[in-house]
Amino acid sequence: MKYHQIITLRDGRKCVLRNGTKSDGYAALDNFILAHSQTDWLLSYPDEISFTVEEEGEYLQKKTDCDNEAEILAEIDGRIVGTAGIERVGKHEKLAHRCDFGVSVEKDYWGLGIGKALLYACIDCAKRAGYRQMELEVVADNDRAVKMYQNAGFVEYGRNPRDFLSRYSGYQEVIYMRLELTED
Ligand SMILES: CC(C)(COP(=O)(O)OP(=O)(O)OC[C@H]1O[C@@H](n2cnc3c(N)ncnc32)[C@H](O)[C@@H]1OP(=O)(O)O)[C@@H](O)C(=O)NCCC(=O)NCCS
Repeated sequence: MKYHQIITLRDGRKCVLRNGTKSDGYAALDNFILAHSQTDWLLSYPDEISFTVEEEGEYLQKKTDCDNEAEILAEIDGRIVGTAGIERVGKHEKLAHRCDFGVSVEKDYWGLGIGKALLYACIDCAKRAGYRQMELEVVADNDRAVKMYQNAGFVEYGRNPRDFLSRYSGYQEVIYMRLELTED
């Protein structure tokens, strides 16, 4: 899906939230690897990431060209500092109303309002795409993220105490959260 918005951050800087294109492959992959090396709250480790720059560019272009999935980049002064996206939960008709959400922001840029803006941009895309429910999984001790989701209206519907087994900290409990996007 296409998306374009310019926001003003807490420190006064401008940040562009936009869909990606093939030419963003290098910068987006760089950001992805960096973000995955900065916390233990994401699913994969940097050494597990195997896409090439070309594949990342094609992935972004495909998301931009389709009408029910999105990958949004947050860009400050030409640098990609965060990404967020929605994807359909499954291809079956009975799952067509549900999408999954994911987000990460480079650590140096936390607390400026980028994560929240990316979340609301994805909620907007999810509504435009006709989804009725947005879902996510978050590590229980990721307070900043849990708070952000609760403030946006996400509610917990379950937990898995042994969801992740971290190299660094052992089992990580994961909370399942969902947001209803329509009344019906
Ligand atoms: C979670 C994450 C995306 C938040 O991004 P961010 O740009 O720092 O978030 P924002 O500045 O927009 O703040 C969003 C909310 O986080 C919370 N928050 C921000 N700063 C905080 C702090 N210092 N302490 C606790 N909560 C904080 C607040 O609820 C804030 O909402 P508010 O502005 O309405 O008060 C970011 O920390 C991140 O990328 N973390 C690593 C990857 C990750 O955990 N992704 C989520 C996986 S489910």
